Amino acid sequence: MLRNKDLLSLHDLTKGEIEEILSLAADLKAKQKSGIEHNYLKGKTLGMIFEKSSTRTRVSFETGMYQLGGSALFLSNRDLQLGRGEPIKDTARVLSRYLDGIMIRTYGHDRAEELAKWASIPVINALTDLLHPCQVLADLLTITEYKGKNLKGLKLAYVGDGNNMTHSLMYGSAKMGINFAAATPKDYEPNETVVKNARADAAESGASLTLTDDPAAAVKDADVVVTDTWASMGQESEHDARTKIFAPYQVNKELLQYADKRAIVMHCLPAYRGEEITEEVLEGNAEVIFDEAENRLHAQKAVLVLTMGEFCGCC
Ligand code: CP
Ligand code: NVA
Repeated sequence: MLRNKDLLSLHDLTKGEIEEILSLAADLKAKQKSGIEHNYLKGKTLGMIFEKSSTRTRVSFETGMYQLGGSALFLSNRDLQLGRGEPIKDTARVLSRYLDGIMIRTYGHDRAEELAKWASIPVINALTDLLHPCQVLADLLTITEYKGKNLKGLKLAYVGDGNNMTHSLMYGSAKMGINFAAATPKDYEPNETVVKNARADAAESGASLTLTDDPAAAVKDADVVVTDTWASMGQESEHDARTKIFAPYQVNKELLQYADKRAIVMHCLPAYRGEEITEEVLEGNAEVIFDEAENRLHAQKAVLVLTMGEFCGCC
């Protein structure tokens, strides 16, 4: 089990807890591949609040609950009274009377925090404007599969917008001892509080944390190169302006020449080919990127078991 009731940020987890999630995720993945069933969440129900769109998150959480013997309810903002102004604190207390856990994808991170504060059941952050911890747990699982279980000392370079993915990758890397470098354009740097927190985590794990506006410097000798959309959900109206500003930050063959020869490229998807990543680089790394997408399922099943289940780790 995790120390905290909720999973809102990787900054709240210990390195040991992240390792426990990754180890259980690998175990659940192996069991699923060999057709072994398990019912760690038999009879439990997860409510899934979506205030933004989703393909991977919705399908992997819902399928994950079924595979664990439980069930999941898709609660779109259009259907909930939340969408008509019912307070989060009331929604949290009502849902806590029916469900065993809540997953939320929303805009302001404070909305997820408010939900967690008032809910008596676990709340899992499935993306806010600030953070995307479940994606990064899947990313860390994928990195262990390609680069080995010992993550300490690897270099991860993120190139593009300083967004929710940057922040969660920064936290995940800092906790696990991965040397992290981000290249973002001026005025699109990562959130200062996140950077401050991540620097404290990095000091503890012995990792470095470098911020620059130079993509080649960030990518130099990297083992893992990551990018994400230049216009996140909610920023659609800025798309054209951002496309011009971010053009030098495209992950392409030329940029990857600075990375380690065996570097892998990752992307949380959805990807916009010809913008943050070229078709050639995406398709050249398709196996990694779709493993990464698959690993959402396995990583989140581990999170669900460790927050909603009575998992003891001994069986
Ligand atoms: N990567 C990710 O979270 O994808 P969705 O938006 O499709 O859920
Ligand atoms: N930064 C992106 C991630 C999508 C999974 C967004 O928030 O839209």
